[in-house]
Parts: sequence; structure tokens; C-alpha cells
Amino acid sequence: IAITTIFYRSAWRYEDRAYRRIFLDTGHLLGNIELASAFTNYRPHLIGGFTDEAVNQILYLDTQEEQAIAIVALADLLDIEQNLSQWESALPSGTQTDYPLIPDGELLKYLHQAAHINSNSPKVPTWKTRETPEYSEDKYNFPFCTKISTVTPSISWGKDLRALRKTILKRRSTREYTGEPIALKELLAVLDFTYQPHHYINQDLDRNPDYFDLSLIETFIAVSGVDGLEEGCYYYAPVAQELRQIRFKNFRQELHFLCLGQELGRDAAVVLFHTADLKKAVAKYGDRVYRYLHADAGHLGQRLNLAAIYLDLGVSGIGGFFDDRVNEVLGIPVDEAVLYISTLGAM
Ligand SMILES: Cc1cc2nc3c(=O)[nH]c(=O)nc-3n(C[C@H](O)[C@H](O)[C@H](O)COP(=O)(O)O)c2cc1C
Repeated sequence: IAITTIFYRSAWRYEDRAYRRIFLDTGHLLGNIELASAFTNYRPHLIGGFTDEAVNQILYLDTQEEQAIAIVALADLLDIEQNLSQWESALPSGTQTDYPLIPDGELLKYLHQAAHINSNSPKVPTWKTRETPEYSEDKYNFPFCTKISTVTPSISWGKDLRALRKTILKRRSTREYTGEPIALKELLAVLDFTYQPHHYINQDLDRNPDYFDLSLIETFIAVSGVDGLEEGCYYYAPVAQELRQIRFKNFRQELHFLCLGQELGRDAAVVLFHTADLKKAVAKYGDRVYRYLHADAGHLGQRLNLAAIYLDLGVSGIGGFFDDRVNEVLGIPVDEAVLYISTLGAM
């Protein structure tokens, strides 16, 4: 499967920010491909490092308008020779720090091309098998903070994953929350399905699905209405399976403002932030990391959406927010840039 983007279809609406949206949307799609493969005995291998020009050519794309953004190789698990090892799915591109003047409307294509991998790149990167697990420790441990265990029974998707199939078909973004609280066990179930895929191997789901590089992404959660959980902002520690509290107040008004006045942000029970240290990420993968980070955040967003819909909760992504205000308001460390917001709530 080759996923491509037609830049103007998103840019007419979101202008330069469309570049993020395209990859966030692609991440949601990758989440569906990952999970739907489990119904069909395929194993999707994600490929982010490819020679852009060659792939665009094979697909006969008019590269002024459309380019390839991600590739998924589907291995047939019923064929023993296709039970492949897992490889790292991301390769680095160059990094550009000197820019010409870029005319309005041209940034998406420019940014995408600047992160191409070329067959004549001076340093041809090599593929490596993937380390498992990708992250072995949680990035933030705030001394003396309140810690809440998130260990919980996993969602049971039923015989032949029937409930998961139905949920994929049923999933829609919620347009309005009631503002009522949700239950703590509902939030924990959503976190479990999103971040602990290895809890689902006995349901025939992939214990370690391909992301580009999850070790670069962190999760912060603003809680406005969860029965049994104090309001405030928390860091989610996926390895320890804990919420670590960093702020102690109700943020509804601030969240309304941060989400550009969208009521979804104010009325949600939970507003979840995926973040990354961009400097560190660019040092590892060059400018191409912008693709990887947003696709991975979208992929997590899709798992989160599906768990929420299964539990009859409302859920919606939010791509429109004030980047420069989020950290100070919620106490998210300054090095962490917010990539994507997901909201959860009662409907
Ligand atoms: C990356 C992303 C960003 C989004 N941002 C917003 C947003 O800022 N505000 C909003 O109301 N909905 C937002 N949504 C929800 C979309 O409007 C919704 O997904 C789209 O209309 C398709 O509808 P569906 O999700 O019900 O299939 C976002 C969705 C995604 C995937």
C-alpha cells in the first residue's frame, strides 16, 4: 500500500498547518490498517524510509500536486516465508537550516521535498532490525508527585475480534460533549488499548505494531471530569503504567482558549496531548521526522478513538490549538512541542 497526499486538498483549508494534518490523518489510517490486518492474517510492515523520487515515479504522480508519504508492505502470515523480522520503519533525511523565501501556498511541497531521501544521498542509511520494546523507561519522573496506577482489565473485543470490526465501521468524531464526567475505569481502558498493545496478544492482535518511532512521543493528559480522579494535568508513564500529576486545578476555561475557542476542548472530560522534543527528533531523523512524529501521533489517536467509541464515549481529534501557549498553561515541559490533541468525554 502506498499512501500519497494531494497537497492542495488539505492546504486550501488549513494553509501551512495542513502539512501536520495530512500526517495526523495518515496516522489514523495506519491505525486502521494495523488493526484490520489482524482480521485478515496480514502483518503490515510500515516503511517511512524510501527513495521519494523513485516511488513517485512508479506511481506516475504529478509531483507538483501529489507525492508519496508512507508505504505499508502487507506480509501474508499464512505463508511461512512471509513471517518476517521487524525492521526499523524510519530512516533519516537531511536537515536544512537555510531557507530561500518561500512563496505563499508553496510551503507544503517545499517542506516535503526538503525531507526527501535521494538515491544519491551522500550517506545511504542502513536498515536495522527493531529493538523490542522501543522504549524501556519513562521520560519524566517528577519527584514527590501524586502517582495513580493505570493497570486495568483490557478491553475484550470478543470472538474473532467482532466488536473491533464493528467499532472501526462505527467510529465517528463527536461534535458535542455534555460536559458530564466519565468513569476512571473508562479512561484507563482507553489508555490500556492505546499504549499497551502487548496486553492484547491473546486476542490475536499484534503485540508490537509498527510505528515510526514511538520513543520520541510523550503523553500528557488534562483531566476536567473523571469520577475518581483529581482534576489537573498528568504525565502518562507507559512503562510504569502510571499517571503522574503535574498540575492541580480544573483547566476547562484554559482548554477552551487553547483549542481556539472550540467547545470540544472546554466540555471534554479529558484532553490528551501527544508531544515530542523536536530538537532531539530532528537530530535523530533530520527534517523527515516531522512526517514520522505526526503519523505516529495520529496512529495512537486512532487506537484511542476506537477504544472510546467501543465504550460509548465521545471522542474527537483537535488539530487547531495555540502551540505557543499550551506548555506554560498546563505545565508541560518547554522542550515538548504539542503534535496533536485528542479529546474524550460523555455524549
Ligand atoms: C488530525 C485531526 C484533527 C482534527 N481537528 C479537529 C478540530 O480541531 N476541531 C474539530 O471540531 N474536529 C477536528 N477533527 C475531527 C474532524 O473534523 C473529523 O475527523 C472529520 O470531519 C471526519 O469525520 P469523522 O471523524 O467522523 O469520520 C480532527 C480530526 C483529525 C483526524
